[in-house]
Amino acid sequence: MIDEAQQESIETPDRQDIKAELLKAVKDLPPMPKVLFKIQKLLIDPNSDAKQIAGYIETDQALAAKVLRMANSPFYGMTGKVSSVQHAAVILGFKTLGELTMLAGFSDLMGKKLPGYGYNSDELWRHSLAVALASRIIAEKINPELSNEALTAGLIHDMGKVILDPYVLDRREAFDVFVENENQTFLIAEKHVLGFDHAEIASEICLKWKFPDSLALAIKYHHNPSRSNGNEMAFILHLADYIAVLSGSGYGYDEILDVREEGTEEFLSIHQQDMKKIENLILESIFKIEAELTM
Ligand SMILES: [Fe+2]
Ligand SMILES: [Fe+2]
Repeated sequence: MIDEAQQESIETPDRQDIKAELLKAVKDLPPMPKVLFKIQKLLIDPNSDAKQIAGYIETDQALAAKVLRMANSPFYGMTGKVSSVQHAAVILGFKTLGELTMLAGFSDLMGKKLPGYGYNSDELWRHSLAVALASRIIAEKINPELSNEALTAGLIHDMGKVILDPYVLDRREAFDVFVENENQTFLIAEKHVLGFDHAEIASEICLKWKFPDSLALAIKYHHNPSRSNGNEMAFILHLADYIAVLSGSGYGYDEILDVREEGTEEFLSIHQQDMKKIENLILESIFKIEAELTM
């Protein structure tokens, strides 16, 4: 069996080419939708308010329509009562409107089919949504200041898969042979075949989209937070990923996500009974939100 240190030392010419191509693909990625970028900034600015968020939402008609539909969904308990984005700002308030907008905005980016990974069109999105909700709940429990950022981190933590997918599709056989013969995870196979795993690529996307460095680091280590130098968000994402899988929002076979690093719960002071509660909460939330976002 090849261990991870050996992975890094195997640098074939083909892999060097792929690595360069992947970095270019990240570089060529369009910027984060402007309105989401602005709203993300407002969400961590203590001087901003819901009306400002509403103002930005109104600049993007498709987003505004989606936000309104969600605001009227059973999840937010306002069925049929919210008539405009400004109205939503008054009824829902700063935090909820911001959260709902990030969910609405990222649902398009993450709703793609990924044939390389074998995901249907809503599979990446459903998993990302579950991890986002679980991350926010964990953050609220242990460090409420991180809760908005935790939601975004959860939404984009696996976005590297969107970039890697066509490369995986072209080399699917090499992946399957490696996973089978070496008895390794798909995550390790990404690194072995392509030179980068999806967490590293997602972290590059964060940097390109000018997210804080600490968030890029958290995403880079969401599968192995013990290497993150104590980055709280990396541990939050790691546990949220695990809870999402427990709740049935995993991917099936390509990541061994039912394994979590030892010491994760201890680091976050989250207990077994908390995990069960979070699992139930996200199940309930996903059920209510999903219908509105996949329409
Ligand atoms: Fe991941
Ligand atoms: Fe994940």
